[in-house]
Amino acid sequence: MQSWVIGNWKKNPATLADVNELTTAIKSGLQQRQAEGKLNPEYYPTLMLVPSTLHLVPVAQVVADTDILVSCQDVSDKGATTGAFTGDCSALQMAEAGISWTLIGHSERRQYHRESGEVLIAKMRNALEQGLGVIFCIGETLVAHDLNKTLPVVRDQLSVIAAFEDLEEYADRIMVAYEPIWAIGTGKIPTIDDVEMVNKEIKDYLTNINSTLANTPLLYGGSVKPDNAEQFASSKLVDGALIGGAALDADKFLSIADTFCSVKEKMKDDDKDTGNITQRIFSWFNRDK
Ligand code: PGA
Repeated sequence: MQSWVIGNWKKNPATLADVNELTTAIKSGLQQRQAEGKLNPEYYPTLMLVPSTLHLVPVAQVVADTDILVSCQDVSDKGATTGAFTGDCSALQMAEAGISWTLIGHSERRQYHRESGEVLIAKMRNALEQGLGVIFCIGETLVAHDLNKTLPVVRDQLSVIAAFEDLEEYADRIMVAYEPIWAIGTGKIPTIDDVEMVNKEIKDYLTNINSTLANTPLLYGGSVKPDNAEQFASSKLVDGALIGGAALDADKFLSIADTFCSVKEKMKDDDKDTGNITQRIFSWFNRDK
């Protein structure tokens, strides 16, 4: 099962020199791991970098000869192509520049730019139409969490995806990142039981609106660090991590990716064990037949 480790750099770093240094450090760290052959490449997560719009092209150039993907943080809702929209960058322009994914619905966009469901639907439509993949971010406030309203909030946010009629066409280009707002940048994290409850709800919701979404990758985001990554990676309902702060440090970012690799590989053995047990039980039941 493929997993994903995605670094959302937000409005960081300050200089192009720092951007190049961070990108190069991630690239060479990955290449070193590949050369050492200690980590099973079959289970190494797909890495994705999400720099600011200004830094997309330089980052894409540095990683062009690797498997590292590049995503933008936003696309224009005002049409998918070109036009008189000062300050906007369209999904077409992103795709033309070699950018393959976009974040949509990050809580910081919802909060500071007042992005409504309608705006998010327009952004998502523009992105999908232009061939971009979409990492759709959802998550509840602390108030909603404390009032036990997480599931209704999440369902309401997912209605943006439900607005699409042609989902089977896009199913392999949609991911959902559950990011409780109170966990972003705070060092606080939910229990893995809570994350699993929410991701199970997301999975059921998506499968219900269109069965082709049954295997949509479900990420967790919010204060993921090297020392807490294992608990998220260990869940069958978490296919990856969306990382902010820790993604600005190449060693931390790659250490989280290493954890996903080794834990997901180990889970394959657990699956095999469960399979063996199932097989043994099956054989036992059928022993006299
Ligand atoms: P954080 O950010 O890892 O710094 O909490 C996560 C995010 O905003 O995607």
